[in-house]
Amino acid sequence: MRLTLPARFYGDPTAWSRERDAVFRRAWLFLGHEAELPAPGDWIAGDVAGWPLMAVRGADGVVRAFHNVCRHRAGPLVTGFAGSCGKELTCAYHGWRYALDGRLRAATGFGAEAGFDPREFGLLSLTVETWRGLIFAAMAPSGRLAAAVAPVEALLVDRGLDLPAPALRRSHELACDWKTYVENYLEGYHIGAVHPELAQELAGTDYEVRVDGECVIQRAVGASGATQAGVWGWLWPNLGINVYADGAMIERMTPTGPGRTRLDYLYLGPEGRPPSDATLAASDRLTAEDAAICEAVQTNLSAGAYEAGVLSGRHEAAVGWFQDRIGGIHA
Ligand code: FES
Ligand SMILES: [Fe+2]
Repeated sequence: MRLTLPARFYGDPTAWSRERDAVFRRAWLFLGHEAELPAPGDWIAGDVAGWPLMAVRGADGVVRAFHNVCRHRAGPLVTGFAGSCGKELTCAYHGWRYALDGRLRAATGFGAEAGFDPREFGLLSLTVETWRGLIFAAMAPSGRLAAAVAPVEALLVDRGLDLPAPALRRSHELACDWKTYVENYLEGYHIGAVHPELAQELAGTDYEVRVDGECVIQRAVGASGATQAGVWGWLWPNLGINVYADGAMIERMTPTGPGRTRLDYLYLGPEGRPPSDATLAASDRLTAEDAAICEAVQTNLSAGAYEAGVLSGRHEAAVGWFQDRIGGIHA
């Protein structure tokens, strides 16, 4: 019998700090799509697990990522999730100016300070790698992005699927720990009770979940053995990669604090066309169903009555794999 990760790790400030360091500082974190920052000075930004991150396209066309933190007294370089800063990044606090490659160009009005060398005060940079137009940044990566996404890449090649252009971003705030949401995402066991309409669509199929390296792949196999045309992938630690014949949805499960999560969706479509109203409505409905159950579960995990439960080997193998990794951090 396989026990779950103890409830005390969900929503706990100590667990949150450990996970910020041991998971998110080492992982490839999705920031956005290259086409969202087509010209020099265009930037995208987002806080992931309390790390304020940004990516900006340089004058040389290269996309670089930085902590969105000024080296003077920690002011923000950009505010919002996307924009253009022109030829340089200017801190919102006292106006220090940085070149698009991160070098400190001018400590505006700072005055002469003995021993102050602006060359030592460039922006704090991250490693950037891209895959099929998606930009990932990492503070201390333990491997290459291509290796991490290889299982999803192999499926896309096998099915002849592409990632089209970015069309629409949407976010949803959830009152649950990021792990609560991820675990829900990594099993299809709840579909029958939580998603009645999806259950009807999947009726007569076998739902399979498999772990492959850093990825989890889910699929529905029909009675005839035919699998669905799309790819439902997930990349450690927090990214859903769902690709269909007519579009895709990248879903970042963004921790925003102990017991709080924001879902950042990026919809992709041919020529950047947003999904149809019907597709969006179905997506919103699924999100609302998952949000409601995850928030109810989080309330119960935090209440104190439940300490740990059990996992089904048949349905929850990927949840067990995820919990092993998280448990290893807290051991
Ligand atoms: S904090 Fe950025 S200029 Fe002062
Ligand atoms: Fe769900």
